[in-house]
Amino acid sequence: MTRIPVSAASAGYEVVIGEGILDLLGEAVRKTVSPQKAMVVCGENVFPLYGERVRESLRASGIESEICVFPAGEKTKSIASFEELLQRAAESGLTRSDCFIALGGGVTGDLTGFAAATYQRGIDYVQVPTTLLAAVDSSVGGKTAVNLKAGKNQVGAFWQPALVWCDAACLQTLPQRELRAGFAEVIKYAVLSDVVLFEDLNRHSVRLPEVIEACVRMKAAIVAEDERDTGIRKLLNLGHTFGHAVEAESEYGLLHGEAVSVGTAMICRAAVKMGMLDRKDAASIICLLEDYGLPVSSPYDAERLWPRLLLDKKFAEGKIELIVPRAIGRCERIPMGREALAEWLQAGLEAEAGE
Ligand code: NAD
Ligand code: GLY
Repeated sequence: MTRIPVSAASAGYEVVIGEGILDLLGEAVRKTVSPQKAMVVCGENVFPLYGERVRESLRASGIESEICVFPAGEKTKSIASFEELLQRAAESGLTRSDCFIALGGGVTGDLTGFAAATYQRGIDYVQVPTTLLAAVDSSVGGKTAVNLKAGKNQVGAFWQPALVWCDAACLQTLPQRELRAGFAEVIKYAVLSDVVLFEDLNRHSVRLPEVIEACVRMKAAIVAEDERDTGIRKLLNLGHTFGHAVEAESEYGLLHGEAVSVGTAMICRAAVKMGMLDRKDAASIICLLEDYGLPVSSPYDAERLWPRLLLDKKFAEGKIELIVPRAIGRCERIPMGREALAEWLQAGLEAEAGE
């Protein structure tokens, strides 16, 4: 079992990573939060796999539990689900000394975290990630949100979990497509700052628990420095500016990780054209994404993506920061206005010769 401390400005907690540790969750929750009751939130696919084990583990540690199951998929990250969850919590008599437990992927984690941030002005929650994406990214760092018709993650809060409990054995039941999507975020970390991880991924020589540990250590360090996403944390948006536009335009037909992969490939191509990234490095990054079965080309042209880009909530005073790879393991934040962004978008859509 590996324990990684996260010291965010607002709260500190541990990310615990292991294999076969799900049944120890109840004891860990008792020690960190000591609630009388927990509301376990999960998706319809995850409940039959792990729901009862989690409830049994809580029961064995003297914690009563309620369960709230939502349909699988991005559409669950909505105001309607948020309201339903709060209503269920109130009807179950959940108090401020109780907690929510998010058992599932990023959809469940983001929704549950936001409910925890607002229920009775904020109660504890525990993240139990069961997808690779949630394990390496969304369960850590306290970004919580639901979507509006106007865009992804438009309503949310920074609210850190009290504990992250990651059993890598749970990833064994993950559909291959979801596992591949998680690797888009893993490759993001490697491109941001870990050449060794990049090489290990290339050789397929690293086991999942170690991959998760490497990514969580990076994220913990970033969140410790910049919890509220005003500086260095923006680096974690590598591939996301173009990726979110592609994801929204697909009406969530593309998975988040798949869209991030397309966005990463696009920013690499654009960076080459702008003279900021070596062609060989861009090719290695794009090859690695493809090697993990991820898409690297946008199904949409600039005309379709541009209105989506303009809705990005990271626009401030007419400028947005693009995260641009300068080499494998080193990226830079480049602020740009609309005109420059339109040029980068166009450059990102043009395939390199030989691709
Ligand atoms: P997801 O939560 O939709 O889960 C993917 C699918 O896998 C679902 O159908 C789910 O039911 C199923 N599933 C989950 N665990 C399983 C398991 N162990 N076995 C079998 N099936 C399982 O998708 P995701 O990729 O985990 O998360 C994507 C979401 O995360 C997006 O909404 C994205 O915006 C968000 N996100 C948030 C942050 C953050 O910092 N908060 C970071 C990155 C992404
Ligand atoms: N996934 C981006 C962040 O946590 O900042």
